Amino acid sequence: MDYLQINGGRKLGGNVIISGAKNAALPIIAATILSDKDVTLTNLPNVVDIRTLLKLLTMLGGKVEHEGTTAKINNGSITSTKAVYEIVSQMRASILVLGPLLARFGECEVSLPGGCAIGQRPIDLHLKALEAMGAKIEIKGGYVRAEAHEGLHGAKIIFDKITVGGTENIVMAAALAKGVTTIINAAKEPEVVQLCEMIADAGVKIEGIGTNELTIYGTDRKPLTFKPVEIIPDRIEAGTYLCAGAITGSVITLNKVDERHIRASIDKLETMGCRFDLTQDSITIYPPQKIKPVNITTIEYPGFPTDMQAQFMALTVMAKGESIIEERLFENRFMHVSELNRLGADIWLKGNIAAVKGVDKLYGADVMATDLRASSALVLAALVAEGTTNVRRIYHLDRGYDDLEGKLSALGADIVRKKEVK
Ligand code: UD1
Repeated sequence: MDYLQINGGRKLGGNVIISGAKNAALPIIAATILSDKDVTLTNLPNVVDIRTLLKLLTMLGGKVEHEGTTAKINNGSITSTKAVYEIVSQMRASILVLGPLLARFGECEVSLPGGCAIGQRPIDLHLKALEAMGAKIEIKGGYVRAEAHEGLHGAKIIFDKITVGGTENIVMAAALAKGVTTIINAAKEPEVVQLCEMIADAGVKIEGIGTNELTIYGTDRKPLTFKPVEIIPDRIEAGTYLCAGAITGSVITLNKVDERHIRASIDKLETMGCRFDLTQDSITIYPPQKIKPVNITTIEYPGFPTDMQAQFMALTVMAKGESIIEERLFENRFMHVSELNRLGADIWLKGNIAAVKGVDKLYGADVMATDLRASSALVLAALVAEGTTNVRRIYHLDRGYDDLEGKLSALGADIVRKKEVK
């Protein structure tokens, strides 16, 4: 198993190119199931989750040519509609094949993803919505078995909670359903918007893109022909590099980034004393001498993203004063607290609220990554900790950060990937 060894205290500087968004690419790869023709995707990030989902497509019988940041996919040859446990257990987002498989083939079996480190993460809302569209669903042997042999039909779906994956699954299912589907309380994250635009560009009429109410006019099982899609920049990766600039007191420029998607993070960084130069596709951060504390509540887009909560907590650890961070989306997304405290942070936790008292110094230690974004928070803290920090279990990081150590090294960090000696 690999780990990252970081010697803290280095000033960073220079430019970093932001990769394509993992969370946009995953539903878009799943959406290719709605087509039986070639689909070309570009600007894919080089991360494990993308390779896992592409592997799932090949296991279903699809053809995938994947090189660098481009994949050419043809799902005209799909022979199986079963997404097996071995893949779904590696990556929860595999549940995104449920909607498109069911809509195109009238049946499928997808392993139940189960919980994960950050919480239970049920899929009840996905299933309830598909049932409203005419699917017969049973859970057996750890699998969701769904049938709609006559095809899915349009329906009015009201989500009790805003769900990104649920909205994506239902948009994909609705694209091939018979009639009109309305989704009320839909997610409007940029990744949902790009999926809707891809489907709309294939000729499916979708009203309300980017709002909380989507209306989709289905094709009654006619497969789609997609135009090539260039994946949008990763707003979470971008936010993480802004935090790297802020925590190390370094001027960093992000290239190939869309500032409209990261306004919530920029806003909080401004409160913490950072200044910015923004152009159409670049952001330069100018941090203050000493960052100020901030209060954060995670909420759906365009509010402050839960996927940036851990990284901002690492920042508040180094702020002058006390910050309060409230996690509203996932019940157990504070696993990084005890690891940050091992580096010398002063964080007090009660339920879904963390009180962070800024400290003057952190000290390197061995720490363990617990989930994807928690891992990057530990790396950020290690960049300023005195001495050496070893961040273990970085397979979490590899799921979602494209070449984190390469990009940080190029900015001047002392960070190397090492192999655990047994
Ligand atoms: C996606 C993102 C993840 C991000 C999250 C919230 C991808 C691949 N992952 O995850 O990085 O942290 O959005 O922005 O895009 N819920 C239910 N029942 C359901 C579905 C969800 O109760 O059927 C709950 C969840 O437990 C959670 C909340 O709704 O509390 C939001 O989850 P959701 O938006 O669905 O997250 P994901 O799509 O899994």
